[in-house]
Amino acid sequence: MKWTRSCVSLALIPLHKSLLYGTTGAAAYGLFFPLINTIDIAFAQGGQSFKFAWISDTHLYPKAVNKRFVEKATRAIQEVQAMNPPADFLIFGGDMAQLGDPVELQLGAELLKEITIKKVFIPGEHDWYLDMGATWNKMFGAAPWSFDYKGVRFVGLDTVSHAEDFWTSRKMSAKERMGNMATLDGTLGGAWAAVGAEQLKWLNSTLASWGKDKPVVIFSHNPLYEYFPPWNFWVRDWRGVHEILKPYSNVTNIHGHTHQVLYNEIGKLRSIGMLATSWPWPYAPEGVPILTRPMIRVDPGEPFDGVGWSIHTMDPTGHVENQYKMWRKEVFADAGVDSNAQDSHEVLSPRVADRI
Ligand SMILES: [Fe+2]
Ligand SMILES: [Fe+2]
Repeated sequence: MKWTRSCVSLALIPLHKSLLYGTTGAAAYGLFFPLINTIDIAFAQGGQSFKFAWISDTHLYPKAVNKRFVEKATRAIQEVQAMNPPADFLIFGGDMAQLGDPVELQLGAELLKEITIKKVFIPGEHDWYLDMGATWNKMFGAAPWSFDYKGVRFVGLDTVSHAEDFWTSRKMSAKERMGNMATLDGTLGGAWAAVGAEQLKWLNSTLASWGKDKPVVIFSHNPLYEYFPPWNFWVRDWRGVHEILKPYSNVTNIHGHTHQVLYNEIGKLRSIGMLATSWPWPYAPEGVPILTRPMIRVDPGEPFDGVGWSIHTMDPTGHVENQYKMWRKEVFADAGVDSNAQDSHEVLSPRVADRI
């Protein structure tokens, strides 16, 4: 629910009364009431409103190869830097590089220098499988991590480094390994997306010291639920993730990788999929969450169509409001034919993972 001034006011009526009777009594009611800013009280009670920005999936090639994604990443970066008031921080959600080349990662770091607010990073598979994360970790720091900010616990996960070794027995080069992992429906990598046993344990202990009703925001490259496993639009151990998150009543997962408008709720976990700056993926042939309002069909002749970034507003209750900053005016499709979703949109059963 989006909080409006009227619903905040309604929720606070009892608070006003107790303040009144505890101080100057009913006679002062008319004088006292208009002086109270109800939204300010809500902030004091439940935290502060603030914004943070998300950019991901820039898929940069070295400039010598082509600049087609550099221009779009640059535009997103300039728009984040131009936010007024500025965002409190930027989360970069992975797939900065196209093929894990250090030149690509250095280009990304160079472009991101324009953003002067705090920046935090999680990796994508495109950043990882050329050198198994060595350059990424050195340049942007290792995940997982967490920090507390204005009453919210933020968590960044690594969902990309847990592929089973399919390369050694095949005597694949690092470039061949990366090439396979960069293919959406490549089969050799299998169900590579995962949180992993060790990180699940870490997540459990990281949240254990946090109130069950306090807001938690989890950043991951892949969705933390089963959307479409053949494209690794999931993590294979999502059941374990949900088990850990079950006691917490206010968790939002914000993820990249799917390059499309996506929204899901499972129990009390909300999941919001982010746009890429590089290109939009089509919706998967099945399993698109029923709560997704599909994005509009993209004009293939317009490179800035179907892509963008996001501003997230954390309201005083710890609820995240996402605003897609797609460079085309329309973001959402009004009808199925206007969207990238297939006819089989909303087919959820039988579950794909249980068939394979
Ligand atoms: Fe991506
Ligand atoms: Fe990805």
